[in-house]
Amino acid sequence: MSSTLQALREFVALTTELVGRPQEEAPLLAALKPALARLVSHDDWLPESLAQPDPQHYRQYLLHADALQRFSVVSFVWGPGQATPIHDHTVWGLIGMLRGEELSQPYAPDATGRLRPQGQAAHLRPGDVEAVSPRLGDIHRVRNAFSDRTSISIHVYGANIGAVQRWVYAEDGSRKPFVSGYSNDWVPNLWHRPTP
Ligand code: FE2
Repeated sequence: MSSTLQALREFVALTTELVGRPQEEAPLLAALKPALARLVSHDDWLPESLAQPDPQHYRQYLLHADALQRFSVVSFVWGPGQATPIHDHTVWGLIGMLRGEELSQPYAPDATGRLRPQGQAAHLRPGDVEAVSPRLGDIHRVRNAFSDRTSISIHVYGANIGAVQRWVYAEDGSRKPFVSGYSNDWVPNLWHRPTP
């Protein structure tokens, strides 16, 4: 294993331990946030092939899926100026900024069911971590803060997020189901060297 993948291996091990403990979402996220902040505080471990943007669409590469689908870790790679539609997750998620910057605008339905932006967009810079969940606010639209370079964030979700049935929304509040899948055919091998 590349010595730099050790940071991801440690994060995966800690997350596995934490999701195995019976606990509410709030203390789980409180414990995971500093661990993800630590992981994204060094931009020296993400394999280059899992950091490649696509000219047309943002990419979501699977880095690790828990065998029991209790969580997954992905690299989310933005090409210049790329953005998501308004979408939800249906499970908890933490977004840690690794490289570049992104803007996350929360939305919520008004009395008529139309989606309205809620406050200012969160501006994530390297080392920052943001949380989403049905409990905290689960609907947002995210975009690369830069129109001239790639940005990358590392996400951890409380499910195998690529296989979760969730929703994309129009501003009138109508929604369509979607399953994101993953962009990669392989995941990094965390296991082929002894732990240093
Ligand atoms: Fe999202």
